Amino acid sequence: MSNLLSLVQSVPAVLLADGSFWLPPPDSATAPEVDFVFYMILGISAFFFALVTAAMVYFAIVYRRRPGHREEKTATSSMVLELTWTIIPVLIVAYIFYAGFSAYMQMQSGPQNSYEILVKAQKWDWFFTYPNGYVSSDLHLPVDQPIKLIMSSEDVIHSLYIPAFRVKMDCVPGRYTYAWLRATEVTPPDEPYGLFCTEYCGDSHFNMLANVVVHKAGDFDAWLENAANYLKDLPPAEAGAVVFGQRCAQCHSIDGTAKTGPTFQGSFGADHKMRDGSTVKVDENYIRESIMAPGDKVRDGYQAVMPTFKGILSDAEIGYLIEYIKTLK
Ligand code: CUA
Repeated sequence: MSNLLSLVQSVPAVLLADGSFWLPPPDSATAPEVDFVFYMILGISAFFFALVTAAMVYFAIVYRRRPGHREEKTATSSMVLELTWTIIPVLIVAYIFYAGFSAYMQMQSGPQNSYEILVKAQKWDWFFTYPNGYVSSDLHLPVDQPIKLIMSSEDVIHSLYIPAFRVKMDCVPGRYTYAWLRATEVTPPDEPYGLFCTEYCGDSHFNMLANVVVHKAGDFDAWLENAANYLKDLPPAEAGAVVFGQRCAQCHSIDGTAKTGPTFQGSFGADHKMRDGSTVKVDENYIRESIMAPGDKVRDGYQAVMPTFKGILSDAEIGYLIEYIKTLK
């Protein structure tokens, strides 16, 4: 019996500390508070659900119509009862508001010295820009450092969601939104957190995913330095393969299969029919133009859905990509 009791008592603590079968571990500074509000509301709801249901069943049985049972007159009003069922719910709801609002304010207003990362959402990828200008497709963070995400969208409304941090915020075209977070655990190299788009944004909404990697403080600077420079150390075509994997592979294949966009295999130097009936020979300038202004010359048989990569791909990266595409015979 005492075992059972201690088990029951430990349930909320376990849920709050380690996550559970339905929540991932709460690994950001504000996650425990979000979980507290969630479990508090869940607990209050479950308590009143049980109370009301039990009372209903009890009354239905005890006061049922039956032979020999005389109907009692019921009171028309009772000041004490009415005050009780007004004041207690008001206090409970006021506390829920207070707990929720204070947790929300903490998540909305980080400290002044936050490390800023620009987040751009576009169908159907995430782009994270660091202070040194490097753009990654996964989000990398230093541990225990307040981070401010400054978010916008290139096209439609997306929503950034990192369950382990209990962070969720819309990315809206034409304006900036903010999210603040502080990761509390370093991720093992092969176990990053998941980052999701949680606003339906078209065909590949389900696939608009990224990883979140939390580094030790010193390791983060080393990673950023290295990531920003490593393309320069590769032969151009190999660097282009890396860029392809990060930016293009979602919609373009290299093996001849048509995806959302045409395959890159055998495309360089070939003549292709465009949607407007014209024919274009794929050369360096056409590739560059297709990256910067994809809607101008769209291949026949494909939709004009590709967003521009202006400001996302550097000139150097476009050059690497062109060299890579040339190798795809
Ligand atoms: Cu972006 Cu759903």
